[in-house]
Amino acid sequence: MTLALYLTTKRKQLWLEHLQTLLPELRCRLWDDIEDPDDVLYVVAWAPPDGWLATFPNLKCVISIGAGIDHILQDRQRPNVPVIRTTGSDLTLRMREYICLHVLRHHRRLADTQSAQTKQQWENLVTPPAHQRQVGIMGLGKLGADAARCLSVIGFNVTGWAIKEHRITGVTTYSKNQLDEFLQGCEILVCLLPLTASTRNLLNKELFAKLPAAACIINAARGEHLVEEDLLEALDTGRIGHATLDVFREEPLPATHPFWTHPKILVTPHIASMIDPEAGGREIANNLKAFINGETIEDLTDPGLGY
Ligand code: GLV
Repeated sequence: MTLALYLTTKRKQLWLEHLQTLLPELRCRLWDDIEDPDDVLYVVAWAPPDGWLATFPNLKCVISIGAGIDHILQDRQRPNVPVIRTTGSDLTLRMREYICLHVLRHHRRLADTQSAQTKQQWENLVTPPAHQRQVGIMGLGKLGADAARCLSVIGFNVTGWAIKEHRITGVTTYSKNQLDEFLQGCEILVCLLPLTASTRNLLNKELFAKLPAAACIINAARGEHLVEEDLLEALDTGRIGHATLDVFREEPLPATHPFWTHPKILVTPHIASMIDPEAGGREIANNLKAFINGETIEDLTDPGLGY
């Protein structure tokens, strides 16, 4: 019984070793070291190439190395087997840190303070207290709901929007048809949505026009949520004040891309919540054991919905 691992990052060997230790009953192999494709029952992968999954005729499930499954679903030849994502407290806490850090950065106008420093200007920028600042989270899955709760504990006026209805203590939530209402007061908008046909390109000029003037955007979901030209235009006109972007249509972000040098954009290289081989490996092994034993898996996705 083989578990095939598709991962092209530097840490692939570390991942393989952890998974092999946690799942001694399986033969864990990297994608370029598969002896017998018929023996591959399980795949653990990040962005496998189109058609690769279809080379395993006895595949029983695919596990995404991460919370998103769009990089698995994009393969049209993918066999119709369950897709399990990977979440867990490590991933959630890392995302919590990133979102709180960047919301606070926008809230306290840190970019303007840094810019004043470069001119040796002593500028006391006055910012309102957190309870007078509305922060909106798009996407209220595990990561979004956790970030919303933490921002509310800090004292922000937190709202949330998702396709489905959600209830989160301390957070005013909106669903599907209430997007405009949600956007109205959002001074800092955080995108943590799954990438689906209905969320692709959602961060566009029509949406920006519904936000308060000079609102800030934080995108830690997927690059395809954002229409890049619309953001550049909105930053030029002042409709959007600043943006923090962790994800891009093309990664790594090409050296000539205008986002790199834009004074109102902070670029981070898809590090908002990087999955850790030890903690992530444990989540994957536990989910796989539950799958094999026919137990309920919280991280089981609905490929029809895309999350
Ligand atoms: C990272 O982008 C993830 O899907 O967890």
